[in-house]
Amino acid sequence: MSLIEQIEPLKLEALQELAGAADAAALDRAKGGYLGPQGKFTALMKQLGTLSKEEKPAAGKAINAAKIELETALAARREELELKAALPKEPADFTLPGRRRALGKLHPLTLVTEDIVRCFRKIGFAVADGPESEDEYHCFDALNTPADHPARDAQDTFYLGTAARPLLRTHTSSVQIRVMQSQPPPVRIIVPGRVYRRDNADATHNPTFHQIEGLYVDKNVTAGDLKGTVEFVFKQLLGDDVKLRFRPHYFSYTEPSFEIDFSNALVKKLGKDWLEIAGCGMVHPQVFENVGYDPEVWTGWAFGFGIERIAMLRYGITDIRLFYENDARFLKQF
Ligand code: DAH
Repeated sequence: MSLIEQIEPLKLEALQELAGAADAAALDRAKGGYLGPQGKFTALMKQLGTLSKEEKPAAGKAINAAKIELETALAARREELELKAALPKEPADFTLPGRRRALGKLHPLTLVTEDIVRCFRKIGFAVADGPESEDEYHCFDALNTPADHPARDAQDTFYLGTAARPLLRTHTSSVQIRVMQSQPPPVRIIVPGRVYRRDNADATHNPTFHQIEGLYVDKNVTAGDLKGTVEFVFKQLLGDDVKLRFRPHYFSYTEPSFEIDFSNALVKKLGKDWLEIAGCGMVHPQVFENVGYDPEVWTGWAFGFGIERIAMLRYGITDIRLFYENDARFLKQF
């Protein structure tokens, strides 16, 4: 067989072997077998010198073309194998949690909020949400809050306009109304969110802060359920030495209403016996009427507490303004 006739079959044989190489090592072996110093293709090229002047140009051209084809196939196969080696052996499970945050840390208020939400989820509460820019109806009227209540005063609330009196919500209780308007009972929700009041900033006040609202509506719900639930959550959050005290109070949307006082070693450390931590009560029948629930059939309780307060207790923070200043020296500690 003349030299030029040997090129094509040898090339096809080499191409097949390159394409069949299962890994990088096999590919290197195939490459050596054809293109290495002792390779079959190299041997063919070496024979070029023995050809006559007439045969040489055509054979040289054919060999070069074949060599380029082999090198291209080699590079392509190498890339394929590298890609394959980089792929995970098992299919990825995208539902697995990440191992750590790529960058930064969670804000202490986020940490506390997430802990509170986790506790309530354990006992079947879902998270609900509502607008920070509210109207008077959801923030006050539907909650049975009378027109002469101080919370409705322009001194206490940020009004965003005069006509329909849009405002920045003063509490997350407005979301109770929105949720009940949007679904039939039973209801079991918590609402973490930002609220606004016309306060000057000092160590314990800020014009915006965060609350968690809770609402539970079903048949035969009692104040005992309320107490048990709040106790469970606070013990989970702040330790088993937590003591709670329910003190009679007044809120227009609950009857009876209570304030919850809280005590544990952290409170004692602040030199106090009790710290007022939440408002709560049994949902007022008028509120049920306002959202179209039959108060003869449905009963419920609600509560609201400040997230900053709990975070301050938990971490021993004495100035609320630290939460909002974005000072890295403060934030790095959590
Ligand atoms: N909205 C009240 C506040 O901002 C807290 C509160 C009290 C919420 C009693 C409630 C409740 O749901 O029943 O101070």
